[in-house]
Amino acid sequence: MKPRHSKLIRRQKPRLPAITKFITALALVITAPATLPAGQRSPLPTIDASTPGLRMPIDAAVLDGTVFTANSRSGSITAVDQSSLSVINEWKVAAALSAVESTGRLLLALDDATGKLLVLKPGPAARELHLLNQHSLPLSPVDLAVSSDGGLVAVSSLWPASVTLLALDSTGQAHLQAEVSLPFSPRRILFSDCCTVIVADSFGGRLAAVDATSGRVLRHFSVHGHNIRGLAVNPRTDSLLVSCQTLDSSTFTTYERVFWGVLMQNGLHSLPLKDLFSAAPQASFVKGADERNEFQQGGSYTLNPDAAASAPAYAQPAGTGRSRYPLGTPSIGSGDPGNIAVTHSDTTLLVLSGTDQVAFRTASHLPFERIHVGKRPESVCLSADQELAFVVNRFDDSLSVISLQPDSVAVRTTVALGPMRQLTAAEVGEQKFYDARVSLDGWYSCHSCHTDGHTNGLLADTFGDEDRGAPKKVISLLGVATTGPWAWNGSKKQLEEQVHTSLLISMQSQLATEQLPIEPLAAYLRTLQPPPGIAASRKQLPDPQILQQARLVFRNSGCSNCHAGESLTTDDVFDVGIHDEQGETNFNPPGLAGVSQRGPWFHDGRATSLEDVLRSGHHDQSSPLNDSQIRLLLILLETL
Ligand code: HEC
Ligand code: HEC
Repeated sequence: MKPRHSKLIRRQKPRLPAITKFITALALVITAPATLPAGQRSPLPTIDASTPGLRMPIDAAVLDGTVFTANSRSGSITAVDQSSLSVINEWKVAAALSAVESTGRLLLALDDATGKLLVLKPGPAARELHLLNQHSLPLSPVDLAVSSDGGLVAVSSLWPASVTLLALDSTGQAHLQAEVSLPFSPRRILFSDCCTVIVADSFGGRLAAVDATSGRVLRHFSVHGHNIRGLAVNPRTDSLLVSCQTLDSSTFTTYERVFWGVLMQNGLHSLPLKDLFSAAPQASFVKGADERNEFQQGGSYTLNPDAAASAPAYAQPAGTGRSRYPLGTPSIGSGDPGNIAVTHSDTTLLVLSGTDQVAFRTASHLPFERIHVGKRPESVCLSADQELAFVVNRFDDSLSVISLQPDSVAVRTTVALGPMRQLTAAEVGEQKFYDARVSLDGWYSCHSCHTDGHTNGLLADTFGDEDRGAPKKVISLLGVATTGPWAWNGSKKQLEEQVHTSLLISMQSQLATEQLPIEPLAAYLRTLQPPPGIAASRKQLPDPQILQQARLVFRNSGCSNCHAGESLTTDDVFDVGIHDEQGETNFNPPGLAGVSQRGPWFHDGRATSLEDVLRSGHHDQSSPLNDSQIRLLLILLETL
């Protein structure tokens, strides 16, 4: 049965608009048409790796004994030789890159600046890199997965909330199989077997299993958590591992509650794959799944330790099979757990992006230990023989090489991808935004709530409003420069003032006053742009005449009295009939740019759809909107 929310919107041969066809054709002529004999293909331009730059590697893949890193900021790919552990070459590939994967024969990379899948072929000993082919994708492609035989490719696209499925032929041409719309903005994507793709929410805790050839959504499920940044299959236990965070919206951001890990937990969930595809009701990792702790020793597991020790797969109490490993204990937080890699011999590596560490265990029944790596480890991949793991560190342009021995896991060396240039204030701020050590004991970063500057969609009681017991929806910071005054109640007249409060209260930062990174954080926040509306992202813009009518309704219904100007907000606060638990009645109208991308809506998340926002009396009970006005306003809001 097709789940209610999923819609297969396209299953056909690629039909590109004429202009895209023309550009693609032109680009292929300029670069490297797949039809040309190998000898005549022009290699991509190299970059002098000794020039200071800002690469910000975000992903890595191994092909023929070479590690290739996708560098997000420089749009380059760096090749590191796996035996000498030194940089061989660096090529300029695109304006920006978001992922790289190996098919076993070719390299695939995502150009997220222009929305393309790049099919690349390294020359002998990675001295050259050729662009064989490129395929247009929906906007903002963020992650990429390849089936084990290299024949199927799945790409997640963030703002269009879609997955693109492609077949890759032997010449490196990609053919569109299906494009699947999802009810959430996806990021991590993984083949769980030959023909099933698991795709996870970038902000919240939703996941979907999709048939990789037909694009049919097989199942929707969810984890008790948000910010899913790691997905892996453990072949030994035949389970799906999911790393994420869990925010308790009903608690306050006080010292004690952060200290004890009550406010924000970081964890690794494990779900037997058979449960996912059984006829049982929709799988969901519920609160209260059996828990084990990173630092618990052998006998103190809540699971049966004897069974765990003797069985290759960890034992589970009958009936459940799911478990959740909270990472971190008081004074040792583990903010922003990320990518996961599992070896055939059951070693699991999990990057802790916010604390610059990698957690590892050499068997599924053992607790995790930790090693330090570079700044903001973002992704991990394994060498073909699984004796080495490579971790890309986004904020210091480096690759940590970890040796995996049955009895020891240790950093062998760190490879610098090239010298780094001086950072701007905003770039320093970006690093602080993603640094869990800014918070008390490293439990979480700004990104843990404001995911990549957006929102995790949850409520938190951060006293932004100076009272307890009235948790507020985490506000998206995309476009925050122009939406002041800040906080739901508009109490912060300066962005710096809000950042100061966020550091002291939301983060319970223990940094000395003069070390609080207020200016850099504010400089970074000012660079964040609103996301494209869902209609623009999906290239489903309405007829200009209808849009014109919708704008008229917006104006005539008085919306523009409070949502005005470029950012569609005003400086004042208003009572629109939505009061909080503590009796606060006046709120600052949120800017509406990108509003379709950030549900649930209102300060307490009470509206679960934009239609709810408008039907709930559109915050003016006295003159409700009629159906035709609502329809037009919805069309408009989805374009903003
Ligand atoms: C525990 C979750 C959480 C963390 C961590 C967090 N915030 Fe927030 N943030 C919120 C919530 C909730 C609000 C809305 C509070 C209110 O208005 O009452 C908010 C509001 C804001 C606003 C106001 C936005 C606007 O448009 O009015 C800014 C700016 C902000 N946070 C920045 C930061 C920065 C910078 C950090 C890290 C230093 C951070 N936050 C950490 C939850 C969080
Ligand atoms: C009197 C001022 C005022 C008018 C008029 C007004 N709004 Fe609002 N709007 C607000 C305020 C204040 C909020 C925040 C309310 C809250 O969450 O407590 C809001 C919230 C919203 C939200 C949710 C934003 C979010 O991020 O949660 C949307 C969407 C919205 N308004 C659209 C409209 C539309 C469409 C109209 C016209 C039909 C309209 N508004 C008219 C003041 C106004």
